Amino acid sequence: MSDYIRQNFIDFAYLIAVMGFVLSLKWMTNAATARRGIFAGEIGFAIAIIATLLDPAITSTGWFLIIVALALGTLIGIPMGLRVPMTAMPERIALSHAFGALAAGLVGLGHYFLNYHHIGKFAIAVLGVEITLGCLVFTGSLMASGKLHEMLPQRPIVFQGQNYLNFSVLGVAIIIIGVLTFNPTQVWLVPVLVVLGLLFGVLLIVPIGGADMPTVIALLNSYAGLSASALGFVLGNKLLIVAGALDGTSGLILAIIMCRAMNRSFRNVLFGAFGQLEEGVAEGGEAGNVRSASTDEAAEIMKTARSVVIVPGYGMAVAQAQHKVRELADALEKEGVEVRYAIHPVAGRMPGHMNVLLAEANVSYEKLLDMDEINSDFPQVDVVLVLGANDVVNPAARHEKSSPIYGMPILNVDQAQCVMVVKRSMRAGFAGIENELFFNPKTLMVFGDAKAVVSELAIEVSGQRDAISL
Ligand code: TAP
Repeated sequence: MSDYIRQNFIDFAYLIAVMGFVLSLKWMTNAATARRGIFAGEIGFAIAIIATLLDPAITSTGWFLIIVALALGTLIGIPMGLRVPMTAMPERIALSHAFGALAAGLVGLGHYFLNYHHIGKFAIAVLGVEITLGCLVFTGSLMASGKLHEMLPQRPIVFQGQNYLNFSVLGVAIIIIGVLTFNPTQVWLVPVLVVLGLLFGVLLIVPIGGADMPTVIALLNSYAGLSASALGFVLGNKLLIVAGALDGTSGLILAIIMCRAMNRSFRNVLFGAFGQLEEGVAEGGEAGNVRSASTDEAAEIMKTARSVVIVPGYGMAVAQAQHKVRELADALEKEGVEVRYAIHPVAGRMPGHMNVLLAEANVSYEKLLDMDEINSDFPQVDVVLVLGANDVVNPAARHEKSSPIYGMPILNVDQAQCVMVVKRSMRAGFAGIENELFFNPKTLMVFGDAKAVVSELAIEVSGQRDAISL
């Protein structure tokens, strides 16, 4: 194959791969098409890898080392992917970002040391940015994963002058990139840049609490994309430029959406030092009387309802109660009760957390309603079953200006005729604040582990208990 034909073939394959990536992002915005989206992305990646392997720069050096690396990566990646539980997905994603960024940083470093004698100013500047981003995403993502995995303390660490220190490190890195741009032979500055990038990644994550990490992971994903895109400019690889830009922008948009849904300041996420909320027992507020109910009582009320809305939250994920929820819904539907699910955009601990768990239990997508779709319906709903959710149904978000969740849109479950809250205790959720919903006269607390309670409810509703006692 002549070089001309080969290059055109590679460019065409890259175009198809990019189409796969764009379609993948488009389809992944909807639960019903998400599986197709993943498939389109996988095909895009397969085409991109095969086309890259045909590049003369690679064929001239041979495929041996690449095949060894591919085999090693596959051997490690497949068991990791199969074994990871859904609740551990954010830390798993953070690990992938860390190694992706490390790869981008190392390719950038290799390119610099091989070519710094004859490289242009623009390419050196971009390479400097790319190496810094690659290094900071590597340590930042490792820290994020460690915090989520509780290998590192989840508590935010805040000290005086933190932002000044962060900006100084970033400032020195920018100065070094500037010096290298005009004098690329100052080779000794490159290891200093690497150390500063690695240090900046650590400093960025230190002040952030473990539970805020998913937002930061989306942002680190965006930085990793920008780093890949910058590398594409240096290597003259169009695929890397486009794929990196898609990754960078989608990560940024996701981080902004998450910030809005949690009523967080995006500026604080960008510059760290946010998420300093303490988790723990609720404090303050006007504690009133709490009414509690047994599972038999709760099941009786549900059976006589016309419509039930289930609001899943982080507790459902912890208890892995999704399959039992499906059983309960089936039992209620057999009794003629209409069952729907209300999904808050930041319920759980990662975007789409509840959708994925319920899809795993084969709950049909049409029954999952977003906050905007269901909120106006609550006054007509007979029973809302709040399952391990807390902050996303806390009415304080509407009026309590001093509350950390003030301004966060919530599911208006307090407008329903009856609310049942399933949780283990009166402990607070992620925001660490008391929930006035629990003291509402319409609310019944059903204390216990979500899986155990829902399983009891399903047995009661389906009448299996009566059948056993007969
Ligand atoms: P949370 O407000 O965190 O409340 C979860 C509740 O689940 C807790 O109050 C806990 O009470 C209960 N729980 C825990 N384990 C349970 C179990 N085994 N059985 C029954 N209940 C259990 O959850 P949410 O309402 O889903 O809100 C999510 C929060 O996380 C929001 O504040 C959001 O801003 C934040 N956040 C979300 C994301 C994304 S992207 N989803 C990312 C970062 C942060 P007990 O201990 O009394 O059982």
